Amino acid sequence: MKHETFHYQTWDDIKNAGNEFDAFLPESQNLGALFTPLAIGAHTSHNRIALQPMEGTDGTADGAPGEYTIRRYERFAKGGAGLIWFEAVASAPEVRASAHQLMITDKNAGEYKRLLDNIREIGLRENGYQPVIVMQATNSGRYSKPNGFPEPLIAYNNPVLEPEPIDKRRILTDDQLKAYEEKFYDMSRLAQEAGFDGIDVKCCHRYLACELLSAYTREGEYGGSFENRTRFIRNAFSYAKSAVKTPGFFLTSRMNAYDGFPYPWGFGVEEGKGIEPEISEAVDLVKILKRDYDIPLINITIGNPYKNPHVNRPYDRGNYVPDEHPLYGESRMMKCVSRIQKENPDVPVIGSAFTYLRTFSPNLAAGMIEGGHIQMAGFGRMAFAYPDFVNDLKNKGALDPKRVCIACGQCANLLRAGSPAGCVVRDGSVYKPI
Ligand SMILES: Cc1cc2nc3c(=O)[nH]c(=O)nc-3n(C[C@H](O)[C@H](O)[C@H](O)COP(=O)(O)O)c2cc1C
Repeated sequence: MKHETFHYQTWDDIKNAGNEFDAFLPESQNLGALFTPLAIGAHTSHNRIALQPMEGTDGTADGAPGEYTIRRYERFAKGGAGLIWFEAVASAPEVRASAHQLMITDKNAGEYKRLLDNIREIGLRENGYQPVIVMQATNSGRYSKPNGFPEPLIAYNNPVLEPEPIDKRRILTDDQLKAYEEKFYDMSRLAQEAGFDGIDVKCCHRYLACELLSAYTREGEYGGSFENRTRFIRNAFSYAKSAVKTPGFFLTSRMNAYDGFPYPWGFGVEEGKGIEPEISEAVDLVKILKRDYDIPLINITIGNPYKNPHVNRPYDRGNYVPDEHPLYGESRMMKCVSRIQKENPDVPVIGSAFTYLRTFSPNLAAGMIEGGHIQMAGFGRMAFAYPDFVNDLKNKGALDPKRVCIACGQCANLLRAGSPAGCVVRDGSVYKPI
C-alpha cells in the first residue's frame, strides 16, 4: 500500500484509488449538511464547520497572543466557521511546547479577552453571527520545550518513542501529576475571564493527559487499569468543572481514540493485534465524560504528530513520508470518528483530517455528516492556507483549487522549529519555508 501523492480530478478517481483497500470515505455532492446549525449546550454553532486548534508558535514571551496570533484569529473570524477551537494554551510555564506557545495567566487574561471580543465583533459584522470559541488547555508533557530545547516530563518510558530510556527524574510522580491536574481549575477560571465559551482538557497527540491513557506499565494511581489511566483527565475535568461560574460555559476534550503504537505502548489497540485500531476504551471514556461532566461535544483525533504524523494528518510531502497510502489514513480516521459517534449518539463528534482532500474535502465532510458518522467537520491546515474557505464554500458552492492547502507539511516544519507557523504556499509574504 504505497504512498501516493494527490492527483485526483474527480470523486470517482478517489473512490477507485480507495477501492484497493476498501476505504471508508462517505461522500456527498450536496453540501447542505455543512450549513445547518448545531446546538452545543447553551450555544449554537451557525454551521457544521469547526476550525481545529492550530498552534502558531507566535505568543509573546509571557504567553499573551502576539501580532501574528491576532492576525491569524482575525482572519479566522472573518472566514465564517461556526466554531473556532482555539489552539493549545499552556497550563504552566515549564509545560509550554515552545518559548512562544500561548499561556494564559492572571496578568495577560485581559489580552485574550480583547482578542475574543474582536473575533466576535468581526464575526457579527462580516457574517452576521459569532463563532463558538473553545480554549484548548494543555500540558505538553513529553513535548515540553519551554526554553527552545526538549525538557520532557513523561508518564512512562516508551521504547517506541525513545530507544534509550529518558532520565527517571523526568518521569512525573503521582504527586506531580496531582499538582498538574489542579492547574485546570485556574485554566477554567481564566478561560471564563477571557470570554471563551468552553474549555478543552486536551487529551490528544501524546501530550501528557493522552500519554497517560496508555500508561499500562506505570505503577501507582495513574497506571495499569482503565480507571487509573483515565484518572488524570477525569480529575482535570473535575477541577475545571469546580471553577465554572459562567452560565453556559462548557467542558469538552480533544481526545485521541488511537495512537498508532502497539500494546502496551499506545492507546486504542489490543494486545497481540499490532497497530490495528481497537477503540472501545475511547468509546467508554466519552460516555464517562458525558455522564459526569455533561460534555456537549467531543473532538476526536488519532496519532502522534511527532512519530507517525501521517496518522493524524495525511500529507504528500514532509520530513518523513510513510509507506502508507494517504487515503488509507483518511479512511482510518473516518472509521475511528464514526465509531465514537455511532456509540455516543447523544454527544456530537467533531471529525478531523479532511484537509488532505483539497477541493473534495467538503464532499467527505458532508458525506460523513449525512451518514451520521459525525455532527461537525473540523479543518486544520485548510484554515492556515485559506482562512475564508467556509464563506467561499457557502457563497460559491466550491473551494478554489488555487487556494486550498496542498498538504506540503511546511506549516508543521515551522511549528517543530519553534517559528511562527502558517502557510508558506498561500501566505508566503508572511511565512517562509525552512
Ligand atoms: C502547524 C500545526 C499546528 C497544530 N496545532 C495543534 C494544536 O494546537 N492542538 C491540536 O489539538 N492539534 C494541532 N494540530 C493538529 C490539527 O489540529 C489537525 O488535527 C491536523 O492538522 C489534521 O487536520 P487537517 O487535515 O484539517 O489539517 C496542529 C497541526 C499543525 C500542522
